Amino acid sequence: MTSENVVTVDDFSVVYDVDPPVRAVQHVSLSIRRGEILGLAGESGCGKTTLAYGVQRLLKPPAVISSGTATFHDADSGRDVDLFDLDAAQMRAFRWDKVSMVFQGAMNALNPVVNIGKQLDDVFLTHRPGLSASERREECAQLLDLVGVGRDRLRSYPHELSGGMRQRVMIAMALSLKPQLMIMDEPTTALDVLVQREILQQISDLRTQFGFSVVFITHDLPLLLEISDRIAVMRAGRIVELDTAENIYRRPRHEYTRTLLSSFPSLTGDRGDFVRGRGEGAA
Ligand SMILES: Nc1ncnc2c1ncn2[C@@H]1O[C@H](COP(=O)(O)OP(=O)(O)OP(=O)(O)O)[C@@H](O)[C@H]1O
Ligand SMILES: [Mg+2]
Repeated sequence: MTSENVVTVDDFSVVYDVDPPVRAVQHVSLSIRRGEILGLAGESGCGKTTLAYGVQRLLKPPAVISSGTATFHDADSGRDVDLFDLDAAQMRAFRWDKVSMVFQGAMNALNPVVNIGKQLDDVFLTHRPGLSASERREECAQLLDLVGVGRDRLRSYPHELSGGMRQRVMIAMALSLKPQLMIMDEPTTALDVLVQREILQQISDLRTQFGFSVVFITHDLPLLLEISDRIAVMRAGRIVELDTAENIYRRPRHEYTRTLLSSFPSLTGDRGDFVRGRGEGAA
């Protein structure tokens, strides 16, 4: 039977072994459900990226995983995979295929001298060696259509695309092998609000279409409230609250969540207080 979770993380800790040591992630336990958008919120430096990298074994020294396990529940094979037990080659194969990642600042990571069709093609060339050149070309074209860039941009170079389009190309790349989980680290923070909203809507639609899970990392809690099914709030290396977006918004239990919520102007909530406040001032 397929597990209802795609990844389970248990008692996971990461220390940066510097002087003094930085306990970046401390005893985090968390399940990512199949098909959900899980938001990971928290201020800069609280450990969001370290957690996401750590689970995928992407951390380098001085980072040390000091405790915990991470299990991937593979819907393809029905097996549980211990992520900390895979060797380097298995982990590399696993990464794009089963879990993909859009890195913080990724839209500037495209190779400037290679057209985007070729960059997409390379993923298939490496991971799907059985495909012919024309099959790969069609896969790449379909991907660009899917993310709203359009197949007519296959031969475009990164500098010929807007920031939003480049970000869509990165999303296309992350989706290319139909992973079961896509982790997105601050994917849209460099984009203007309108483009950001369009891209988020598209991710949400694709998720519904293909059924993959998304971990969406940002310090922008109101944004997460709009797109997430559940939200984990992180502070100083720990998850201090994890609940449905609805409950986080209406009934935040942790003081820190309330602080995060109140530090942003409300986008969706009751504007009564503000209007009343103005009225009193004018009287
Ligand atoms: N290579 C490193 N060496 C030492 N400390 C590090 C290293 N990388 C990160 N840290 C520290 O680990 C903590 C967590 O950092 P991390 O990048 O995971 O936070 P974040 O929540 O992703 O922040 P942001 O929102 O700014 O991206 C921070 O205190 C950071 O300074
Ligand atoms: Mg980060």
